[in-house]
Amino acid sequence: MSQKSFQTLRGMRDVLPQDAPRWQHVEGAVLAAFGGYAYEEIRLPLLEDTALFKRGVGEATDIVEKEMFSFASRDDKDDGSLTLRPEGTASCVRSLQQHGLLYNQTQRVWYRGPMFRYERPQKGRYRQFEQIGAEVFGIAGPAVEAELIMMTAEAFEALGILSSVELQLNTLGSGGARRAYRDALVSYLTPFAAELDPDSQRRLETNPLRILDSKSARTQEIVRSAPQLPDFVDDEAKKHFDDLQQLLTDLNIAYQLNSSLVRGLDYYTHTVFEWVTSALGAQGTVCGGGRYDLLVELLGGKPTPGAGFAMGVDRLVLLHEAVHGAQDDEALDGLRAPVEVYLAVADESAQGVCLQLANDLRRALPDLRLRTHISGGKLKAQMKKADASGAELALIVGAQEMADGSVTCKHLRGQALVGAGDAGQHTVPMTELAAYLARSLAKSLAH
Ligand code: HAM
Repeated sequence: MSQKSFQTLRGMRDVLPQDAPRWQHVEGAVLAAFGGYAYEEIRLPLLEDTALFKRGVGEATDIVEKEMFSFASRDDKDDGSLTLRPEGTASCVRSLQQHGLLYNQTQRVWYRGPMFRYERPQKGRYRQFEQIGAEVFGIAGPAVEAELIMMTAEAFEALGILSSVELQLNTLGSGGARRAYRDALVSYLTPFAAELDPDSQRRLETNPLRILDSKSARTQEIVRSAPQLPDFVDDEAKKHFDDLQQLLTDLNIAYQLNSSLVRGLDYYTHTVFEWVTSALGAQGTVCGGGRYDLLVELLGGKPTPGAGFAMGVDRLVLLHEAVHGAQDDEALDGLRAPVEVYLAVADESAQGVCLQLANDLRRALPDLRLRTHISGGKLKAQMKKADASGAELALIVGAQEMADGSVTCKHLRGQALVGAGDAGQHTVPMTELAAYLARSLAKSLAH
């Protein structure tokens, strides 16, 4: 009886070898762009105390209400609940605070890795997805938001997708302004409660600001005449926002003001921003962030200003493909790591010698990509595999070669080196093989 085979869980994805180069390219370009900003990497655990996200992200958010992968702790000493992180900001605050790295200093950190949200999967929305994010602590002025936004713009420019994304910007004002606005919004919406969609009805009590970005047509119609958040923003917050806009203008970074942009996490104050694209359908936000000056305190620390963003790498990869096409561009070709040399083992007794020889060659030529044939079989079949691998050169070691310390080199494509025999074949002493390969493969090894 055959055994059941397995599939990925819903919302989880494999990145297969043929797709991995695009991921490497996207992640590499983003991190290279970040490199110039001298932020430091921070690596954080995937599992945290559930309460961290409840308090940090907000009890009434979709993330905490419906989307967390939470389970009971198995530790006897601790009867709490654990959660696979749905985002990185709360963990980052937890970490820097725990290690005393937040006070009387500034911190600029970046992180990457998987996040988990129990969402309904669709293109661009997964239950495990990758983020690359950055957070800055200890700087209150709007130049931080400008720097963070500039960093994201640089990364998008490096990926060739800047013209496919639009920066949307809003301010939520200070904590006080947000509370006053929330009260005004609830007073306005309460008489319409019965007409709102069910999610918005629930949010009227728990998280009224999220009603602003409801997808329901009737709710949107009601919201259109609601009090406007900008009218509640105090003068100081207005100045902060104006100054940020001036900085962005000076930096030549185009933006759109969007007064209904409130973001799905509760910790923001002042600036919120998103980079959105129309090229990916419904899941068009490739990056989101903002300022969160109250979060450190909320998580038990001393008041410390903070700001940051996170990019969705899955969506950046989709967008990169949508913009550049499925066709390989040069950057991806360089990452595809083709096999350059295929080592055929013509006699089973040569396996040990071949493994050693292969390793010596890799050490001598660090850029060399050499694959050994270690699955046995006839030489003819091995040469077919060599050809299919795309290698330029096949090396053959059998009983004869072992006996006289040589290797047969067969050029599989294009011009053989001058001096090679008619069949593009050459016998080279093992001791001279590295130098021979270096000459034969000079072009591809230079990449
Ligand atoms: P967020 O908007 O929840 O913010 O997520 C940031 C980005 O992660 C989104 O713009 C999107 O590209 C990607 N993303 C979110 N959920 C999914 C999903 N289910 N599938 C694929 N991609 C997804 C945060 O997480 C905040 N921590 C950002 C931040 C950092 N704010 C301040 N500092």
